[in-house]
Amino acid sequence: MQEKVEILDTTLRDGEQSPGINLNAKEKVEIAKALERLGVDTIEAGFPISSPSNFQAVMAVAEEVSCYVAALARAVPKDIEAAAKALKPAKKPVIHTFIASSPIHMQYKLRLQPDEVLKKAVEAVKMAKEFGVRVEFSAEDATRSDWCFLKDLTEAVIDAGADVINIPDTVGYTMPWEYEKLLSYLLTEVKDIENVILSVHCHNDLGLAVANTLTAIKAGARQVECTINGIGERAGNASLEEIVMALKVRGDQFKKESQILSERLYQTSRLVSTLTGYPVPRNKAIVGENAFAHESGIHQDGVLKEKSTYEIIKPESVGFPQTKLVLGKHSGRHAFKERLQELGYSLNEEEIETAFARFIELADRKKTVHDKDLEALLSIQATRVLAKFELLELQVLSGNDAMALVKLKKLNGSSESTEIIKEAAAGDGAVDAVYKALERAAGLEVTLLRYQLESTTAGTDSFGEVMVSIGYNDKTYLGRGLHNDVIRASAEAYLQALNRIFAEGSEEDGADFS
Ligand code: KIV
Ligand code: ZN
Repeated sequence: MQEKVEILDTTLRDGEQSPGINLNAKEKVEIAKALERLGVDTIEAGFPISSPSNFQAVMAVAEEVSCYVAALARAVPKDIEAAAKALKPAKKPVIHTFIASSPIHMQYKLRLQPDEVLKKAVEAVKMAKEFGVRVEFSAEDATRSDWCFLKDLTEAVIDAGADVINIPDTVGYTMPWEYEKLLSYLLTEVKDIENVILSVHCHNDLGLAVANTLTAIKAGARQVECTINGIGERAGNASLEEIVMALKVRGDQFKKESQILSERLYQTSRLVSTLTGYPVPRNKAIVGENAFAHESGIHQDGVLKEKSTYEIIKPESVGFPQTKLVLGKHSGRHAFKERLQELGYSLNEEEIETAFARFIELADRKKTVHDKDLEALLSIQATRVLAKFELLELQVLSGNDAMALVKLKKLNGSSESTEIIKEAAAGDGAVDAVYKALERAAGLEVTLLRYQLESTTAGTDSFGEVMVSIGYNDKTYLGRGLHNDVIRASAEAYLQALNRIFAEGSEEDGADFS
């Protein structure tokens, strides 16, 4: 039997640290359920101390899934307490505590001496252990740390009771051969390391996150931390789908396997992309739109004669759709519900009803409804729950000196108390006018950072899908809108981003991340 590599998915924590991604609890639960169906061993659901919404989201995920659920905590008591509290409903809770171990981080960020860092790490692990949970310890920036200090630190936290020792390449700095040496050093020199799970966590700053992770598996790592579509801080984390498929396709090299159901990779990738608003590059390995497209005549000829000439992965083995299914207004509830399940959504009956009503509305305006239309529709529905403003009416006079009139329904605290707001604005073109009117109505001044308009499918009856990212108080918020009128889609996208600001608004607790 092959040895097992555990997969810790940190899409909901490190992935969510990508600029502009703010998943609400409902979206996190939706993704967590998909991750569990995919077969991940641990879901890192968030960083509870960072905000009340993060806390609630970790709790909501912990309630919904049965696999390990991890919560991040700095090596300080208030973080560990918050993590333990948020993990209360978890069947298999993991407190993941960390402190930086590199000279650069200890001197400039923590302003602590190595012996003080070691003491804090040991205290944190001991405290976390008292909650009776699995405890993971990460030596942040491990790959730029002094090896002897790293050995002493890991030995001390193992002695304090850590169950998992994570050696992150926090800034994506290491080369595969250096990483291998470091891990082999730790595996031979650290007392009792064989009694814990050695884990790795690689960032992609030099494009080496997956290569480093695979090297670590060969060197003896038993857990790897990664994200769907490789999203994460800066250039992202190691991509789960690439690691899993490398292990599968090149099993001869590893003799180790994960328990991921690879046939679910594509739908999980689509779900994450849809709910985070982060598109998957067309040429992304495994899940990109072009991953199985053969363009040149020679390649097409080869594949027609024998697939294995140019295909090392069967598209169906990662759940890549062979045919694009379309729905229309005559498709019944049953077909609709089945398609949603195939796309990785697990909605309750009430949500299905709402989605179905919107689908019928869509199908009335458009002959055929494609997967991309459905995905956009569902992502909008997921954030609608928290919406403070709803767009009731939009009137626009286009042209260079455009005018826009918006009518919004505003929810005051509870859904029972509502108010109607009307605002008008002039602008340099229709979108500018609409955005100025919406800002006035919402009472916020924001900066439009990115505006992207795409058609969801081919054909002039296609829907316009607008993605915007706006800046407010040094943070970025994403919004998405879908409509056959692209100005309306633009308005909906902007309003969704504004709603995300309000959803988060009162929740900052001033946590200090120094
Ligand atoms: O990149 C990193 O070092 C992290 C740790 C918190 C594990 O995300
Ligand atoms: Zn990280």
